Amino acid sequence: MQVRGLGYITIESAKPESWREFGTQVLGAMPAPGLPDDGRVYLKLDERAFRIMIEPGARDRFGVAGWELGGAGALDAAARELESAGVPYKRGTPEQAQARRVGELLMLDDPAGNALELFHTPILEHSRFVSPVGVAGFVTGELGMGHVVLPAAELDAADAFYTGLLGFRPTDVMRVDPAAVPDRDPADGPARLHFYHCNPRHHSLALMEAGHPAGLVHLMLEVSSLDEVGYALDRCAAHGVPLSATLGRHVNDHTVSFYVQTPSGFDVEFGFGGRHVEPGNHTTTEITAVSYWGHRFAGPPAD
Ligand SMILES: [Fe+2]
Repeated sequence: MQVRGLGYITIESAKPESWREFGTQVLGAMPAPGLPDDGRVYLKLDERAFRIMIEPGARDRFGVAGWELGGAGALDAAARELESAGVPYKRGTPEQAQARRVGELLMLDDPAGNALELFHTPILEHSRFVSPVGVAGFVTGELGMGHVVLPAAELDAADAFYTGLLGFRPTDVMRVDPAAVPDRDPADGPARLHFYHCNPRHHSLALMEAGHPAGLVHLMLEVSSLDEVGYALDRCAAHGVPLSATLGRHVNDHTVSFYVQTPSGFDVEFGFGGRHVEPGNHTTTEITAVSYWGHRFAGPPAD
């Protein structure tokens, strides 16, 4: 199996209207046209029908990460691989696939309990991307929509699942001071933080060896210039949205970014300048710092 990128995410929220405001006025996503008025909030970043779906619910929590495969044949092959590996999954109904705006999907959990979906053939929506606050565009395409950092207390099993089954390759690893990681017992020593690529984006996935109450450490979205990051910082200030970390540059993907708190208890990293790797021709390294400069975290760090 070869996952090709992060296609979409879903979020359960008791405050979907807060997400509509945050997503369009702070992040600068476009309200997605042509989708049903069904109480969900759909945020569009590019030519996909949506990239972020917020479903009204009783609680605030990350939903699923949707990982894309190359086509129908790749999805059928993936189903066979899951079966032979003994990984339970469900095949989405045509209605569920239509709701995600994809051809078909499989639904499953990783060994750490994170819900994910594998899909093929996203249904495009070709209206011009027009951000309500003037964001020129988001860096997506073959790089996928960004990256997610998922909690994975069972890191070894999750690592084997994503690399051995889904085709992710390790980019780099880090050992994080347990005092800086929520839900990590310091007696257990440093928490491992592993970064993985599945396309030239430096990492589309990272796994943190810890739990997380919201089910997601952060989602990263990328824009195409430093000025877009600066304008986003100004929008956070104008809307009184709390930052989780100041502007900084990461040592591993070189992204210049800041972290902002979403209405659902996890962060969005908003950045630019992420470097690329060459899949199949990359040497995994261990990093020993989160950032060259900046990224002063209000709470625990979360690269
Ligand atoms: Fe990140």
